[in-house]
Parts: sequence; C-alpha cells; structure tokens
Amino acid sequence: MAFSTLAVPIETSLQLLPASAFTIEQLTAAYNQTRVDYLVPMPMNAARLAEYIATYDVSLEDSVVALDGNGQMLGLAMLGVRPERAWVTRLGVLPAARRRHIGLTLMNVLLGNAEHRGLRRTVLEVIKNNIPAYNLFIRCGFAPTQEYLVLRRPPAPPLCEPRGSAEWLDREAALALLPERADTPSWITENRSLARVESLQALIVTAPDVGSGWLVFQEQRFRGLTMLLSRFMLHTRTGSPPVVARLLLAHLYRRYPELDTQIENVAVSDPHLPMLIEMGFIESFRRIEMIRDTA
Ligand SMILES: CC(C)(COP(=O)(O)OP(=O)(O)OC[C@H]1O[C@@H](n2cnc3c(N)ncnc32)[C@H](O)[C@@H]1OP(=O)(O)O)[C@@H](O)C(=O)NCCC(=O)NCCS
Repeated sequence: MAFSTLAVPIETSLQLLPASAFTIEQLTAAYNQTRVDYLVPMPMNAARLAEYIATYDVSLEDSVVALDGNGQMLGLAMLGVRPERAWVTRLGVLPAARRRHIGLTLMNVLLGNAEHRGLRRTVLEVIKNNIPAYNLFIRCGFAPTQEYLVLRRPPAPPLCEPRGSAEWLDREAALALLPERADTPSWITENRSLARVESLQALIVTAPDVGSGWLVFQEQRFRGLTMLLSRFMLHTRTGSPPVVARLLLAHLYRRYPELDTQIENVAVSDPHLPMLIEMGFIESFRRIEMIRDTA
C-alpha cells in the first residue's frame, strides 16, 4: 500500500489493510455501518456491492480498510481504476470514530495508491451539502467541477402524445449508439460502466421536420412490480434537445405508462434537462463532481 505526501498524523493504534484482505460480506457490513446516518440512505447487500465493484472497476487491492488495535473496523474507502484516472468511492468512517483524521488517512492511502499507479487525475462525487466530506476533499486538494442531478419521475400518465416513428433496440444495438454521446458523463454513467450493464435497451425516435435522437436506458425490476431506469442517456441527433427529449419521453411513457423512473447524474448543463422537469421529473438530490490533478 502506498502513501501520498499529504501530512496526516496517524493514530498509533490504527491499522490499515487493503480491502482485498476482507470478504465482500465484511466490506458490506463495514460500509453499511459507516452510512447509518447518511444524508441519503443507500444500504447495500453483498451481491450489490460485488456488482458495484465489477461495474465500476473498483480495485480492492488499491482500496483500504482502517481497524483499531482490537481489529474492529473503523472505516473504509475504495478506489476505482481506469486508464489515466482513479475514482474515490464508498468512503466512510463509523460515526463514533469520526473527527480523528481517519477519513483523511483513508484518503491519503487511496491517493498514494493512485499516484503509485501513475494516475494523475482522481475524480469523485459528493452529495451536495455533505459538508464533512466536501471539506475533507477540499483539504485533500480536490476542486469542484460540475453538478449532477439525481431525478425521479413517479408513475404518471404521459404528458403529451407521441409523434414520429419509434424503434426499440436491444442491448447490443444500444451499446453501438453510445460513441455518439456529446454529454459529460460521470464515472458511473460513462460508456465503460454501461458496457457492464446487462439490461440495457434503446429507443430511437425520428419525427420529420421536428428532430431525431435516442435514449439508452437500463431496465430494472423492483419488487417485481415497477421498473426503475437508473441509467438514462438522452442524445439529440437533429433538432432542439428539449424538443427531442419530449419526443423520446412521449414514446417511452406511452409504451410503459406505469414506469417509475430514476435517473442518476444528469449534468445541470444538459440541454435536455428543462424538458425532463417539464415532463414530471423531480430533483431527488444533487451531487458535486470534484477533481484532483497532480503535476
Ligand atoms: C466524511 C467522513 C468520511 C469524514 O471522516 P472523518 O474521519 O470524520 O474526517 P477527518 O477527521 O479525517 O477530517 C478531516 C477533515 O475533513 C473536514 N471535516 C471532517 N468532518 C467534518 C465536519 N463534521 N464538519 C466540518 N468539516 C469536517 C475537516 O477539514 C477535517 O480536518 P480537521 O479535523 O483537521 O479540521 C465521515 O464524516 C463519514 O463517514 N461520513 C458519512 C459517509 C460520507 O459522507 N462519506 C463520503 C461520501 S462522498
């Protein structure tokens, strides 16, 4: 395990071990314990954490767990590794162990591991108004770059009639559309992540004299009843993005009138966003993307 040059006074009894020394069940339990008081409840089970690790290229060898002198886990932090960049995720310290620089120590290890791999850029997202984490990241040299919204549209009738023709595509055809993207995706919505998602589909809509575009989305069954689409990428080929978004959503909700839709990480600068709001999407919360570049 490597250490960066950030000056951190480490408690003498604190042990730091790579996350690869633990089972997924142990990591899941530790993660859930650090998040009991989290702003947005996001408990995980072992299967979901394993899927998360695989989808987002989390390297358990480069991730770290902090323990006290008795072997009790106090916190953990994970590092995603992709060409040229690293990603900080799942950072948490037990509520009773906070403000002892354990978070800073975990970050220090991750940043040291990223540097050790020659990765000069590290990215992360922090929920807006998570002041402890935001301050910690500023202290570690991160700077805010952009904001993302997490949006939700509960089941509701479509707000407009579909126009033009719609073509529904399977996963392979959906993946083939992604190189056309013009948005600024986050780690979890970039093509490398989507390539790992099994239940991907797409819709292409063409309305002469109006516009054309596509929607790539992930279908997820939730308690066997509703569908939640957590990944949802809109792209305009011709025409104005809000108008094309309207066309796509009209076709989507005509086909799936009961759809409960959740969208992760829509950039506030996304030109389709005003139409998403007009069509009934509500902001659940915001994330701030932060980046740290080293020379
Ligand atoms: C964010 C978190 C990991 C910080 O861990 P921690 O061990 O308590 O933090 P540290 O003691 O290492 O603090 C390092 C610096 O972060 C900032 N910071 C930490 N907690 C803070 C707080 N409650 N208020 C303001 N700043 C805070 C300070 O700058 C602090 O330095 P200082 O104590 O010398 O002033 C912890 O609060 C936590 O687990 N929160 C819940 C999960 C979470 O939010 N994870 C991050 C998701 S992106």
